Amino acid sequence: MSHWMITGASRGIGLELARQLAIAGEQVTASRRAGSRHEPLEAALAPAGSRGRSLVFDTRNEAQIRIAATQVHDPVDVLIANAGAYGPERQSALDMDFPGVLDLLDTNALGPLRVAQAFLPLIRRGARPRIVFMSSVLGSMALGGTFNVGYRASKAALNKIAQCLADELKPEGISVVSMHPGWVRTDMGGPNATLSVEESAYSLIRVIEGLTISDTRRYLDYRGSDIDW
Ligand SMILES: NC(=O)c1ccc[n+]([C@@H]2O[C@H](COP(=O)([O-])OP(=O)(O)OC[C@H]3O[C@@H](n4cnc5c(N)ncnc54)[C@H](OP(=O)(O)O)[C@@H]3O)[C@@H](O)[C@H]2O)c1
Repeated sequence: MSHWMITGASRGIGLELARQLAIAGEQVTASRRAGSRHEPLEAALAPAGSRGRSLVFDTRNEAQIRIAATQVHDPVDVLIANAGAYGPERQSALDMDFPGVLDLLDTNALGPLRVAQAFLPLIRRGARPRIVFMSSVLGSMALGGTFNVGYRASKAALNKIAQCLADELKPEGISVVSMHPGWVRTDMGGPNATLSVEESAYSLIRVIEGLTISDTRRYLDYRGSDIDW
């Protein structure tokens, strides 16, 4: 059994990761924001019994995250920094809602690092410790296209942060990767996406279970294939 910590678990991919891991008998700590519905996460964690617990914080709020981290005492083996947003409507290179995109950068690029830093003391005590930043293929510098510049820039920034954190933590044996969950039918991915949330979460878990320190600094999709940075 491993201890998994998952952010953004009120709905979508994070909720499904928590659900599948709880059913599999893993220890699961999962976070949601105040104001989000608590019933879906409670139901997802129920199979884990006393090994399942929820935390409440906004990944833009460092104080909230650090208080939440003090409530966890067991070593964390896997952190999945999954919480993320898609941002405002106007986010092209020619017409941008700047305050809205600044907020998006805060959530998508800095939020995962805030969580990783706050939980690092627990991750350092984990078995085969792993940090997964939920990125997107849209953060790849190699990918063309102009839509949703703010979202792409936020995930590109997250990828760079993942590389730097991987280099910082490699001497300690902590593996850090960026992952793309596929195009998934969630509120964010929309109804036309190619993958169900169950398929995405199932594949992500299999890949993350197999990660070792030799995988650190990789940018992977949900099948474990490398993505061009
Ligand atoms: N779906 C896709 O096709 C797709 C593709 C590539 C990458 N991704 C990435 O995968 C991750 C999960 O996406 P999803 O499709 O499951 O999205 P989703 O259904 O929109 O769920 C997003 C989750 O993140 C939480 N969240 C957003 N902003 C937050 C904040 N500031 N603090 C704490 N929690 C916050 C949301 O909480 P609330 O309920 O409180 O809003 C929700 O739990 C994201 O990082 C996304 O960028 C998704």
